[in-house]
Amino acid sequence: MSVYDLAVTDALLTTTRAVRKRLDLTRPVPEDVIRECLEISLQAPTGANQQSWRWVVVTDNEKRRALAEIYRKGADEYLFDGYRQAEADGDAQQIRIFDSARYLSEHMADVPVLILPCIQVLPNMLEDPDIMWPSVLGSILPAMWSFQLALRARGLGSTYTTLHLNCATEAANLLGIPDDIKQTGLLPVAYTLGTDFKPAKRRPLDDVLHWNSW
Ligand SMILES: Cc1cc2nc3c(=O)[nH]c(=O)nc-3n(C[C@H](O)[C@H](O)[C@H](O)COP(=O)(O)O)c2cc1C
Repeated sequence: MSVYDLAVTDALLTTTRAVRKRLDLTRPVPEDVIRECLEISLQAPTGANQQSWRWVVVTDNEKRRALAEIYRKGADEYLFDGYRQAEADGDAQQIRIFDSARYLSEHMADVPVLILPCIQVLPNMLEDPDIMWPSVLGSILPAMWSFQLALRARGLGSTYTTLHLNCATEAANLLGIPDDIKQTGLLPVAYTLGTDFKPAKRRPLDDVLHWNSW
């Protein structure tokens, strides 16, 4: 006997996709929905229960436009090269992803809510890289994914993006983010056009699984 309805739980876990072209750019997102999903995200684990996460929610028109421009600047070259490479390789899945990512880059300013999941990073955390990455990112990305799952359950979608981080200082200056707070990405958030999403094609489990030894 399962604790939760497995069909519903597994559907949520396997169909929460990067949504770009199916973000509804015309439907407003109530503040309450964002707050509710963020409340849920705060149940995620953090190293030593430090809860050093910070969330910067941007709905102001001018700031969204400026942030979208920073994203475009950080993303365009990578997305252009990636699309060309995918075409050269004849890789249909990668072509679709880069086409969709370029669409998002062009429409970022029209997405009603932009959210930057951030984490406080203290100098002593940077001493040992082996532990730094898991500790720092591991204390924000589980919460971010919980937030994205909570959005999906309510008919909203998002995409984890990182390309604006090529210009992270510009974004920090725009939003007044202090030096010890590191941005870990940018989530465009909107209601989705339709709610039917499918599991994606992934590498087979046995290609990536090592059991008892490598
Ligand atoms: C670390 C990371 C960085 C990503 N950065 C971007 C990004 O900057 N822009 C973007 O459009 N998508 C970005 N994505 C989304 C991926 O392209 C997407 O998750 C992947 O293509 C698989 O698609 P799916 O999540 O719908 O299965 C990123 C995803 C991850 C995990």
